[in-house]
Amino acid sequence: MKRILVVGSGAREHALVWRLTRDGAEVHAAPGNAGIAEIGAVHAVAADDLDAQVALAQRLKVDLVIVGPEAPLVAGLVDRLSALGIAAFGPSKAAARLEGSKAFSKDFMVRYGIPTAGHRTFTDVEEALAFVRAAQRPLVVKADGLAAGKGVVVAKDADEAADAIERFGRARELGDAGATLVIEETLVGPEVSYHVVADGTRYVALAPAQDHKRIFDGDRGPNTGGMGAYSPPPMVDAEVERKIRERVIEPTLRGCAAEGFPFRGALFVGLMIVDGEPMVLEYNTRFGDPETECLMTRWGGSAIPLFEGAAKGDLSAVQTTWDAPASLCVVLASEGYPGAYPKGRPIEGLERAAEVAGVVVFHAGTARGEGGFVTAGGRVLAVTATGVTLDEAADRAYAAADRIRFEGKQVRRDIGWQARRTPS
Ligand code: AMP
Ligand code: GLY
Repeated sequence: MKRILVVGSGAREHALVWRLTRDGAEVHAAPGNAGIAEIGAVHAVAADDLDAQVALAQRLKVDLVIVGPEAPLVAGLVDRLSALGIAAFGPSKAAARLEGSKAFSKDFMVRYGIPTAGHRTFTDVEEALAFVRAAQRPLVVKADGLAAGKGVVVAKDADEAADAIERFGRARELGDAGATLVIEETLVGPEVSYHVVADGTRYVALAPAQDHKRIFDGDRGPNTGGMGAYSPPPMVDAEVERKIRERVIEPTLRGCAAEGFPFRGALFVGLMIVDGEPMVLEYNTRFGDPETECLMTRWGGSAIPLFEGAAKGDLSAVQTTWDAPASLCVVLASEGYPGAYPKGRPIEGLERAAEVAGVVVFHAGTARGEGGFVTAGGRVLAVTATGVTLDEAADRAYAAADRIRFEGKQVRRDIGWQARRTPS
């Protein structure tokens, strides 16, 4: 039996642990969460405590480590594990710069002719302010470094762009992440998430997905970590997918190899489809959350060879098969999220929700209270359902989501609206 350690603590990691457990592995998670503890062993080690993660992997004598979140990848956890001969799924520190620095990733895209919005990079706040004032058109302001989804402002005018520059660049609201700013042209179109798993040279394409980042129905309100996702999205037809692979994925992987950091692990490209043409918004060097919940529930056969093959540099034997034609995930969030939110509210109905056909309830931010699970995060649960059609997956996911109750529960009712015939 393979022993696998999953690093991280969200619903993405719960979905990975769920998948690997079903595929027959002995799965450990660090730090994991209360939902993961139901199906695997959890260890109280923070995801970004590299020394402790390495020590844990050694102590458990694992066959494979899968790193979920970006921070330990950017800090070099995979390099540390690889140096000790421990197989690790995820990119090296050098390759993780594609996510860790937006200035680096934009320059990389320009070097390889990968379609993306035009941009300028600034380290001087006054120069950035002068640029947006002179531009007289809507621009997007991005903090260069990791900012947990809070580092992008799609400004409607120069004043909003200037405000973002002041907050990120001068007030350093996001710390050093804002020391360098990327300012780019605004694109308009549907957004999709495209994941591949790469072994340094070869790659396996996963199914396209779409996330819903805004907190409210109709894609309104502030950005969140993701309020729901589904797969497959109709705007990625065979032709668009071909363009994504030929114009984005393949040149990216070739560029990584040419620059001495062959990409191993999950490459998740955030794209906007502008008049049928895929344009890159950002690279992520890890799996998306909640996209992973959809991908892992759809995946057919064992996923262990996918993770192991990438970590060991040989995906040649891995076939992509999708058991479920469609999957949809609805996130249940705490009152106040994405702002400050209360914790410790009792959650009811989890068992009844899990009884709905095709449903798996992944935990994002829960804890064990006296009488059962309580809320413990902004995103609390990721209720995921498969179906023969997307409408069926949506009906199941919402039927299950409606059986779960906690005070102040926030849920978007329109996940998958661009693909569904019937609203739930
Ligand atoms: P990022 O973290 O770079 O993906 O940006 C977060 C969100 O900001 C994206 O999901 C888009 O909704 C939006 N965004 C980023 N870049 C652009 C752009 N150039 N034009 C329009 N919206 C953008
Ligand atoms: N679902 C978006 C992300 O994981 O960044």
